[in-house]
Amino acid sequence: MDKFRILGGKRLHGSVAISGAKNSALPCLAAALLTPETVTLRNVPYVRDLITMRRLLEDLGATVLVPELRTHRINAGTVEHYEAPYELVKTMRASVLALGPLVARFGEARVSLPGGCAIGQRPIDLHLMALEKLGATVEMQNGVIVAKAERLRGADVTFEIVTVTGTENVMMAAALANGVTRIFNAACEPEITDLAELLTKMGAHIEGAGTPTMTITGVDALGGAEHTIIPDRIETGTFIVAAAITGGELEITQCNPTHLMAVIDKLRAVGVEIEQPDERTLRVSVRGKLQARDVTTAVHPGFPTDMQAQYMALMTQAEGDAVVTEMIFENRFMHASELQRLGARIRVHGHSAYVHGPTPLTGAQLIASDLRASASLVLAGLAAEGETWIDRVYHIDRGYEKIEEKLRTVGAEIERVKN
Ligand code: UD1
Repeated sequence: MDKFRILGGKRLHGSVAISGAKNSALPCLAAALLTPETVTLRNVPYVRDLITMRRLLEDLGATVLVPELRTHRINAGTVEHYEAPYELVKTMRASVLALGPLVARFGEARVSLPGGCAIGQRPIDLHLMALEKLGATVEMQNGVIVAKAERLRGADVTFEIVTVTGTENVMMAAALANGVTRIFNAACEPEITDLAELLTKMGAHIEGAGTPTMTITGVDALGGAEHTIIPDRIETGTFIVAAAITGGELEITQCNPTHLMAVIDKLRAVGVEIEQPDERTLRVSVRGKLQARDVTTAVHPGFPTDMQAQYMALMTQAEGDAVVTEMIFENRFMHASELQRLGARIRVHGHSAYVHGPTPLTGAQLIASDLRASASLVLAGLAAEGETWIDRVYHIDRGYEKIEEKLRTVGAEIERVKN
């Protein structure tokens, strides 16, 4: 298992380009299952989860060509069976995104039930409830969810909790259903809007994407399309924090600041200087001292749970006490105990972590527990005096494209050590 070795205390400076959004590319690849025609996706990030999704599509019988790095040309005209196997689902929960498209187009889908995961129980009951509403029968056979329907039919679906991939699954299923589907309490994340754009190019009729109420009028068939994936807002936020936590100065290019206003506003309140010279660029620097500010995660457009761990790392360097409250997942504070190993003063109680700063951090040996937690450990390692080792960085490879190379080009001392 690869490790990172970081020699902290270096100020970052320079320019870094943001990759395509993992959480948008995943459903867009799954959407290619909805048509026998070719779907071309550009700006697909080169990260482990996308390799897994590609393998999943190929396993189902689809052809995925990668004519150049980050372009995927998918043809699902040759799909011959409808099962996402456990080996893939257990490494990536987002495999569940195959469920909606498969049942909609082929009348049958089999997806292994994802097990528990490091950040909580994460059930998929709402995905299944929604597919049942559209007329599918759903049952469990030996740990595999089996969904069947002759033809899905439009219906009203109300989510009691906002779910991102749940909303995406219904959007894809409803696009080929007979009649009109209305989704109430739909997720509003930018990735939803991006998926809606792709589906629309494929011939779907979708209104209200990006708002809590979406209306989808099903069509008999969808066709091929070309689409460019939006920039990754979480990678963008992570690099803003990287600049801030090292007292550095970064230009972040190829991003979309409008997708992360809650993060930008919060970091400005903390004292991070963030300028936007143009629509696709941010300039980040720190002049004065950072001030602790509380944060509570929320669904979009609120502060994203996927930035909570990185924000907590930053709060260890801010003056005062910050309360970091996690409202989306029930067990997403594993990074707190690792940050403590670097010297951070954090107390976790229920849904909140109380961070007392600033504390000088000193290098230590750490273990990454999930994707965003690993990012927070890298950030803390950059700020820590001396050498930090982070084990199990395969977690970070799931969602960040070559993070150590990008960090090195802006002055960080970080290397990957292969075992
Ligand atoms: C997506 C993102 C993930 C992000 C999360 C919240 C992808 C591939 N992943 O995950 O990075 O952290 O949104 O922004 O896009 N829930 C249920 N039943 C369900 C579905 C969800 O109870 O059937 C609960 C979850 O346990 C959680 C909450 O709803 O507490 C939100 O989860 P959800 O939005 O579904 O997360 P994902 O779509 O899995």
